[in-house]
Amino acid sequence: MSQPRKLYEGKAKILYSTDDPEILLSEFKDDATAFNAAKRGQIARKGEINCTISTRLFQQLETLGVPTHWIETPQPTQMRVKRVQIIPLEVVVRNLAAGSLCRQTGLSLGTPITPPLVEFFYKNDELGDPLLTDDRLRLLNLATPEEIEQLREMALTINAHLQTVLTRCQITLVDFKLEFGKLADGTLVLADEISPDTCRLWDCLEDDPQRRVLDKDRFRQDLGHVEDAYEQVLTRILEQV
Ligand code: TMP
Ligand code: ASP
Repeated sequence: MSQPRKLYEGKAKILYSTDDPEILLSEFKDDATAFNAAKRGQIARKGEINCTISTRLFQQLETLGVPTHWIETPQPTQMRVKRVQIIPLEVVVRNLAAGSLCRQTGLSLGTPITPPLVEFFYKNDELGDPLLTDDRLRLLNLATPEEIEQLREMALTINAHLQTVLTRCQITLVDFKLEFGKLADGTLVLADEISPDTCRLWDCLEDDPQRRVLDKDRFRQDLGHVEDAYEQVLTRILEQV
């Protein structure tokens, strides 16, 4: 067995090689960043919690026919995943207005969005992950028009499944960010993670606009009890999913 080689270290995960060139190991870290890493910190047990939540959700999505990069979870913070070529787009789905949508449009926090909004951001830290228009998407040619359409449809399908699952957990799925990759044969698969780092999740049992927040907004906005929120999402998902 050759030693795993570190291939890439991102803000929340480290990717290692394995003996199989088609399989990588993704290590989830406790490190937390916000605002393009202008704010940095740690969230205790985040690596394990996000890896466990992502594992459950990826498994669930696979059984529902959504292909993902997930293969297995050999350790609580480690996922074996298919090697993919990541498409440099962040695909955001919104069911309720929050975050950058409120800041950029003036919509009030929590405004219902029907049908859900799908937005494409350019995954490029140097440029600050800008929102792309359809014309800019075509111009940059980061994916073909057919692939963009497929990403949009997959994102909406994933949204519907996640909403069903999270409703059982008494959690409102406000919005979330997905990343996709391409297998060698061109198949698009869901990659990265689905966790309180990448979703906005509100506790259905709470009306208070701060107390209901069960996601990374607690870290972004210094709301406190960040670890408790992540643990709460994990507990509910392990009970229900
Ligand atoms: P936004 O409202 O800041 O555009 O975020 C939309 C969703 O995407 C929200 O659920 C948080 C998630 N997100 C990430 O996962 N990574 C990021 O870098 C950003 C900016 C947002
Ligand atoms: N992942 C992003 C970063 O640090 C920010 C965020 O999730 O808000 O840069």
